[in-house]
Amino acid sequence: MTPKPPRTLFICQNCGFQTGKWLGKCPECEAWNSLVEEVVSPEPPYRRTPDQVAVRSRPTPLISLSPSQEERRPCGCREFDRALGGGVVPGSVVLLGGDPGIGKSTLMLQVLDRLSGSGFIGLYVSGEESAGQLKLRADRLGITSARLLVATETCLENILKLLDSEKPHYLVLDSIQTLYAASLPAAPGSITQVRETAFQLVQLAKRSGIPIFLIGHVTKEGAIAGPKLLEHMVDTVLYFEGDRSHTYRLLRTVKNRFGPGQELGVFEMRQTGLAEVTNPSALFLSERSLEAPGSVVVASIEGSRPILVEVQALVTPSSLGMPRRQAAGVDAGRLSLLVAVLEKRVGLAFGNQDIFVNVAGGIRLTEPAVDLGIIAALTSSLWERPVAADTLIFGEVGLTGEVRTVAQTEVRLQEGAKLGFRRALLAKGQRNQLRSVKDLQILEISSVREALRRLFPPDR
Ligand code: TYD
Ligand code: MG
Repeated sequence: MTPKPPRTLFICQNCGFQTGKWLGKCPECEAWNSLVEEVVSPEPPYRRTPDQVAVRSRPTPLISLSPSQEERRPCGCREFDRALGGGVVPGSVVLLGGDPGIGKSTLMLQVLDRLSGSGFIGLYVSGEESAGQLKLRADRLGITSARLLVATETCLENILKLLDSEKPHYLVLDSIQTLYAASLPAAPGSITQVRETAFQLVQLAKRSGIPIFLIGHVTKEGAIAGPKLLEHMVDTVLYFEGDRSHTYRLLRTVKNRFGPGQELGVFEMRQTGLAEVTNPSALFLSERSLEAPGSVVVASIEGSRPILVEVQALVTPSSLGMPRRQAAGVDAGRLSLLVAVLEKRVGLAFGNQDIFVNVAGGIRLTEPAVDLGIIAALTSSLWERPVAADTLIFGEVGLTGEVRTVAQTEVRLQEGAKLGFRRALLAKGQRNQLRSVKDLQILEISSVREALRRLFPPDR
């Protein structure tokens, strides 16, 4: 029998769609130029005939099952544990994505170092850097534990052997794009390899109970193999992001089978590595320009905790036929809607004004609770009148210009009181929630019009 010639397929590097001929645009995920020709082996190594696969699970009445108690092992890094939903779940696979250079390798080395402090053996396999480079970073981070093992290896089969010989409690693979399974002809980083190696690693984690952290580079264009596809295979997806010009870094949970799907850990990149920021509000407000027109502080809930952030607006006469509407950190559609509410319900004229809105610190605010803050910032800039710096603002704004209550009012107010705010502007009807909050004067309003009257009294 003559061996079959190697077959090639065009595979979308974003979503894994396969086709026999090249296409400019993936019909599945609509990414442009994402199809790459790859050699595919006729039979993936894990595919067996039905009788080779042992039956593992018999159908059981659902009511007779006992609920599983997810064991969680906190690794001692509070912000990292927070993003994971309280700690690492044995046998889970976590994908840590982010732009190159943002600090993913640093974060994972530090996490392993913390774990080794509690007696666990961590194996850090790097396909990105040489042993010398790893040592340089480790020295910078002050790592001294002998239980933190490193290996420079990219072949999956060899990594499996390392696991057998070293028996680590935690495994970090840096990065999924450099890994390859020798049994496959496709190049490392191609979607076939990413899918196969990730598949085998997920199986391994489930079988052995070893938590595995996969580091993956994700460019802004999502150009590198398989981020979307990987997201479906792993248990938890974390994104590490941040503004290059700032030192803080946000660890955002985008998927978690074992905890809340939206959490936010905050770190600061220092000379000696990442430091946890346990009070992010104080950090985000530290550079605030007090009493400047266009600047307000909103109370937003990110994951399980309140974060106070400064929202800035700049409204300025436009020299363009079509004035600019630019939003960073808030949704551009939401901004247009709020501008329309101000025009129609309050009668403000933004028609020939450029509008820029920015959230300080590179945070993205998605909660409707920040609506009222945006409204206040826009008006403050348009009128060139500052909002008192000790005022906290939040509330959802509706199309008729009404202001609605939002969830977790009390938590937001407590955070504000903690940081020295003296007044809070919020929607009417939450008195019963506010008993425990002292030191804060509550200004209750029910419409945008009323809010602006309170913030910018005519007699000033
Ligand atoms: P790194 O972890 O290599 O990023 P990634 O793995 O995501 O590509 O971190 C790279 C950046 O972090 C680099 O620009 C240097 C900076 N850095 C510090 O500022 N302090 C430190 O202690 C370390 C280790 C890195
Ligand atoms: Mg790295």
